[in-house]
Amino acid sequence: MKQDVAINLNGEIYTGRVELRTVLVDFIREVAGLTGIHVGCGFEGRCGSCTVILEGVAVKSCLMLAIQADGAKVLTPEGLARGGELHPLQTAFRDHHGLQCGFCTPGFLMTLYDYVKDIVARGEVPDEVQIRQAMAGVLCRCTGYVNIVAAVRQTIDRLNAMTPAERQKWFPL
Ligand code: FES
Ligand code: FES
Repeated sequence: MKQDVAINLNGEIYTGRVELRTVLVDFIREVAGLTGIHVGCGFEGRCGSCTVILEGVAVKSCLMLAIQADGAKVLTPEGLARGGELHPLQTAFRDHHGLQCGFCTPGFLMTLYDYVKDIVARGEVPDEVQIRQAMAGVLCRCTGYVNIVAAVRQTIDRLNAMTPAERQKWFPL
């Protein structure tokens, strides 16, 4: 059985007719053609490489159906940069070499997008343990965690130095 679905991905509407059992990550990668997110664990919710922002919250897109996201706004890694400028998280990952093979990187970026948005809004300064807890849902097989923690710190510092309007630009969802 199939159903029409329309999902706002990074500000653009993508439509498709999908099986009821089609998971969101398959819609994003195969129907919309946005291959920034990855499937690293066989749809078990363990690796976090498929993480997207759905209506402002980080979710593992292999654990929900495409029809559940019908009509929703979703942000993927392709939507992080603005006006040709990398998102502060992306810049910080580059500066600190927060990746090795990069397979897990989209999941970290989207998970940490959600995290730093909340942390900066609350004016908190997390310690290393808290940052590691925040990214516990994403697994890196190359173990680049130390550099990722440094990248998160730089991102928070940079966001804190911005005006609220400047910060808002980086968090469309
Ligand atoms: S593919 Fe979704 S958590 Fe691994
Ligand atoms: S950088 Fe290779 S899996 Fe994380």
